[in-house]
Amino acid sequence: MEFKEELKKYQSLVNTELEKYLKKEDCPEKILNDSMAYSLMAGGKRLRPILAIATFKLFSKEIEKVMPYAMAMEMVHNFSLIHDDLPAIDNDDFRHGKPTNHKQFTEATAILAGDGLLNRAYIVISEDLRKSKPEDLQNKLKVFNEFSIAIDRMIAGEYLDTEVEGKQITDELLEYIHKNKTAAFLIYCVRMGAILANADETAIEKLTQYAQNIGLAFQIKDDILSEEGDEAILGKPVGNDKEMGKCTYVSKYGLEGAKEILDKITKEAIEILKDFENSEFLQELALYIKNRNK
Ligand code: IPE
Ligand code: IPE
Ligand code: MG
Ligand code: MG
Repeated sequence: MEFKEELKKYQSLVNTELEKYLKKEDCPEKILNDSMAYSLMAGGKRLRPILAIATFKLFSKEIEKVMPYAMAMEMVHNFSLIHDDLPAIDNDDFRHGKPTNHKQFTEATAILAGDGLLNRAYIVISEDLRKSKPEDLQNKLKVFNEFSIAIDRMIAGEYLDTEVEGKQITDELLEYIHKNKTAAFLIYCVRMGAILANADETAIEKLTQYAQNIGLAFQIKDDILSEEGDEAILGKPVGNDKEMGKCTYVSKYGLEGAKEILDKITKEAIEILKDFENSEFLQELALYIKNRNK
């Protein structure tokens, strides 16, 4: 199957699955539920759950095992985006070509919609744990622990990202911020897929290296797109990093420098996967991250 076709198939699989978790019934807090659904179904690329499912499929076909964990991750990712766009953080008005959550609803609703999505993710995982077979529990609890740590890292990265706005920082600190605010989720997704599919330690270790590279690559590309992307395609503002005085790979190394680093780490990521059978999709995904225009 062509990469683009396979990606679309994965995206609709994720969208159909997420729909099942939406609360649509009438209740006093209906608007809060609507605002969670608004962001969750706004048109995200679904990269994180796709990474988890595709990694799982390297080792096993029983994808229903990974689905709740993959969905929980997408919920948390969308929580992070709602809060990232808030006036107190990046103050952005558009995402996915639509008003950001706080613009569509209110700031208070957006804050609580973020909290709500974060907690829904925990509900999804805890419900899966409750009905798990005892022999699956060890791996699932390991994944659950890594899930909560990945969120902890994202929050640390987001904090630092806002804290260092307008300041000069070292290369090391910039890399640290990117690894935490963005790469931690991608690394977790790959590891989650591999662990739940019972991959051996060596495979998990190699896949972690792949994920570290694409995780950093993902944010470098995000920085590049914030500099030279097409706002109409991107669906979110261009030039906002510069305006806010954000420390990015572009502000640090220049556009060409950032592109060179992106190219290098993408090549390394693909090279790591050459040891894995049926890893073409994940190899193409690394290229997609590098070449994407949204
Ligand atoms: C945007 O993530 C935020 C970053 C971590 C850079 P995505 O570009 O994956 O956002 P969606 O999921 O497609 O909305
Ligand atoms: C977002 O980083 C990272 C998280 C939400 C954790 P950015 O602020 O750079 O991403 P965009 O450009 O708003 O999507
Ligand atoms: Mg931000
Ligand atoms: Mg932002």
